[in-house]
Amino acid sequence: MDRRQFLMGLAAASVIGGAALAGCSGETKPAGDATKEAPKGEETKEAPKEEPKEGGAGGDVGVFTWWAEGSEKDGLAALEKLFSEKYPNDKFVNLAVAGGAGSNAKAKLAADLQNNNPPESFQGHAGAELMDYIDAEQIEPVNEIIDGLGGDSVFPKNLLELLTVGGDIYSVPSNVHRSNVVWANPEVLKKAELSTDAPKDLDAWMADMDKLKAAGVQTPLSVGTAAWTLVHLFESVLLSVLGTDDYNKLFTKGTSWDTDKVKTAVAKFAKLLTYANTGGADDWTPAVDMVIDGKAAYNVMGDWAVAQFNTKKKTYGTDYVAWPTPGTAGTFLFLADSFTLAKGCKNPDGAKDWLNLVGSAEGQKQFNIVKGSIPARTDVPDSDFPDYQKSAMKSFKEDKIASSIIHGAAANNAWNSEIGTAVSKFWTDKNEADLVAGLVAAADKNNK
Ligand code: GAL
Repeated sequence: MDRRQFLMGLAAASVIGGAALAGCSGETKPAGDATKEAPKGEETKEAPKEEPKEGGAGGDVGVFTWWAEGSEKDGLAALEKLFSEKYPNDKFVNLAVAGGAGSNAKAKLAADLQNNNPPESFQGHAGAELMDYIDAEQIEPVNEIIDGLGGDSVFPKNLLELLTVGGDIYSVPSNVHRSNVVWANPEVLKKAELSTDAPKDLDAWMADMDKLKAAGVQTPLSVGTAAWTLVHLFESVLLSVLGTDDYNKLFTKGTSWDTDKVKTAVAKFAKLLTYANTGGADDWTPAVDMVIDGKAAYNVMGDWAVAQFNTKKKTYGTDYVAWPTPGTAGTFLFLADSFTLAKGCKNPDGAKDWLNLVGSAEGQKQFNIVKGSIPARTDVPDSDFPDYQKSAMKSFKEDKIASSIIHGAAANNAWNSEIGTAVSKFWTDKNEADLVAGLVAAADKNNK
């Protein structure tokens, strides 16, 4: 497939905005509506529908994710439990590899796929990242499964478009996460007599951080020092400085990143890091723990952080609060986890059982309540969900949508790894001009 066409489509889908992604009327044609014409002279015949076997196909079902440790694994455990109840003939084989955002898992997965040792199903991100697997012909279409689950009457059309190439849908989305969230500890804010309300923009936020420092809070902002966690913070800053439309345009073919706004975003990112720890937290969980333990006031992280607060028995609204990264209110910086059917896997029927579970309303309810995300399906009522997710569901329906970089919606694995290298270098040398040059070069190379 043509990656260029896909990226253009992705940007268009993002620019169209939340209304369509949220399942309201969109002008896009239904995804999965195969546009292939029947060869002339041949009759179009309905393929016989495969009926899943009651209790499951049987055999091992290897599921590869990076939800391996701590709160990160709780959502997967909820799905595994439901899977064993619904498909007792199948054996769930947990192939998870720890490391936030797939920082370790993706290399292991690439090696397994390369060596013709695919799992039955693996986790990928809707959007540009999924294209890598489609381009490399490592995954199979799942049109029938999506249709059986309710198709575009239950999954937002524009979300399905991020999974669709040439009329074929690749993967079943399990959830939608929000990237641009600040998690804050009200007790720490009190030290500087700050309210729990969101500051209006990055400058106002940093002014509050000055107050926190003056009140003796040494680390107003916690960060993980792994490349991906820094890029995670940076994408929020980029969105805040550029605004939704210009941010989304960064991912349309041929757009240069060599702009004053990108330079301003880098300068704000540099300043923000002066309020942050310089070590002591590598991945996202220790950085969120700094907020939980009162060692920092704020952390910017995706809403999988909810699972970490839950693990530590913290209550949303009292022990912690959350708001969109200052300057990004009204925009949902989006990503979605999606499960694939791996080409050449040993047990495709078992894989289909797994995908049917992941895409079912019950599976999405059980999984997302625990994971901190919201269902990809639009027909799962919010009444069973905790308050944070209720608010995220509302935002996803009403807000503009932008696509996360580091979580594969806007940029593929190669582009992300180059952005990660530039940001990591910046973490060490704090050279703003070099970071801008690295981002521009990465865009020039990959955004075409
Ligand atoms: C994201 C993934 C989330 C969560 C997070 C932290 O890439 O989509 O589900 O797992 O990484 O590891």
